[in-house]
This record gives sequence, C-alpha cells and structure tokens, in this order.
Amino acid sequence: MDVWILESAHAVAVKAADICGELIQRKPDARLGLATGATPQALYAELIRRNRQDHLSFAHVETFNLDEYLGIGPDHPQSFHRAMRDSLFAEVDIDPANTHLLRGDSSDPVAEARAYEALIKRRGGIDLQILGIGRNGHIGFNEPGSSLGSRTRVKTLARATLRDNQLGHPDFEEPIMAITMGIGTILDARALVVLATGAAKAEAVAAALEGPLAAICPASAIQLHPDATVVLDPEAAADLRLTDYYELVDQARRRLPRTSGRI
Ligand code: F6R
Repeated sequence: MDVWILESAHAVAVKAADICGELIQRKPDARLGLATGATPQALYAELIRRNRQDHLSFAHVETFNLDEYLGIGPDHPQSFHRAMRDSLFAEVDIDPANTHLLRGDSSDPVAEARAYEALIKRRGGIDLQILGIGRNGHIGFNEPGSSLGSRTRVKTLARATLRDNQLGHPDFEEPIMAITMGIGTILDARALVVLATGAAKAEAVAAALEGPLAAICPASAIQLHPDATVVLDPEAAADLRLTDYYELVDQARRRLPRTSGRI
C-alpha cells in the first residue's frame, strides 16, 4: 500500500488528478471507477480544469460508478447520476454513452446488479477505482458487516450513513437501500486510489490501513489489493500509527530516479 500524507485537501485532489491524468495519457480509453460524495469533488474540479486548460481529454474514457440509491431515478435531485452529471460529466468532453451507473429505479435490482457486473467484465475490467471512505469504514455502500468477497448487489444503508448523507427530505421518501459494487468487485480493479480528508475520517482511515482485515471495517479490504494508493490530508491521517514510516518511504521515493512503475 502506498500512503501519501499531503499538506492539504487541495494537494490530495491534485495528487489524485495526477494519477488519473497519467493513466489517461498512457491509455486514452482508460476505464475509471468513480465515487460520489464530498471527498472526490475537488478531484473532479481539478480534472475539469485540466480538461479545459491542459487538454486532458475524456473523449475515449469510460466510467463506472460505485453505487446508487435504490428507488430513485437518474434525474432525481439526490441521485448519484445527477451528482456525477453536475460535478464532472457535463463539464468535460466525455461521451455520456461511456458513463455507466447503476439504475436505482430498476424494476429488478438483482438483475440490474448482475448486468452491471457482466458489463464491467465485458468492457475488460476497471483500470483505476477512486474510493472515498465512510466514517463507519464503508467503501461504496458496503456497510460494516459486508462480505469481503461480495459482488454488486442491494445493501441496506447503515444508520450512520443515512445520517451522514442527510437523505431526510420532506418531499420524498428517504432511500434506505442502495445498489453497490461489492468489495470483491472493487478489489478486481487493477488499481485503487483511496481518498480521505478531514478529521471525521481519521478513525476509519486508521482502521482501514492499520487495523485488522475485518468485515467490521469494509475499507480494510484495501489491504488485500496489490496496487492501492491512499492519499490523505494531515487531519484524516491523524490516528495512523505508522506515520513515521510513511514519511520515511516518502523520503526514500524522492531519492529514486523516475521509474516506469511503482516501487
Ligand atoms: C460514494 C460512496 C461512498 C463515499 C463515502 C464517503 O459513491 O461510495 O462510499 O465515498 O460515503 O463520502 P464523503 O466523501 O461524502 O465523505
């Protein structure tokens, strides 16, 4: 696991955009796995900036989002479809046909989940999966207790997630379930980039990176991945025990010549 503790949330976004940008330069038809929520917003803003100013093109990029609330359609104001359109897709040169999200309003969510798994496979798998971490340690909507081998499926949201995502709305019935890529699905991506910023994430980050591999902290499954990069700001990194080692690794990296891959 490659752990970067950077000086600010902005630096986290820039580093994540560098990783995405390098992949897209190398492989213009890269398949990106995307997350919604607050954490990746600065990354998406940086990707939009690079698309406009640095000619980073998404024309051949294909995307797969992690999850969607069950029972709401793509135009619903709380949907992740809408969030992705607003925060990235409508702002870059991506072909909407290449942006894949689970349909929360599917009449058969079990079939929807199965079809999504098949689609990812048929397209050749995800090259790089962006992940945020919930305060309760979830990734995607794999809540504590999720099987570490799970595939895309319907999950009931944890109370903490309902609270954090502030779904309560007077005008519509609050979704309490979601369709989400499973932990096994996430681990199949060729590379993971896990982002966390802010003090509220410190406990979950420490459990994920340095705690036992356990279903109580679904994000701990990233320990199994051979190519996981974790990018943190100092607040999110505050509870880590191996900070001194991560700093040493950073110093060692700077001594190395540029290589063709990760060391
Ligand atoms: C979003 C997702 C979630 C979020 C997590 C963190 O698609 O799958 O796992 O990444 O809830 O959310 P924020 O970034 O809002 O703190």
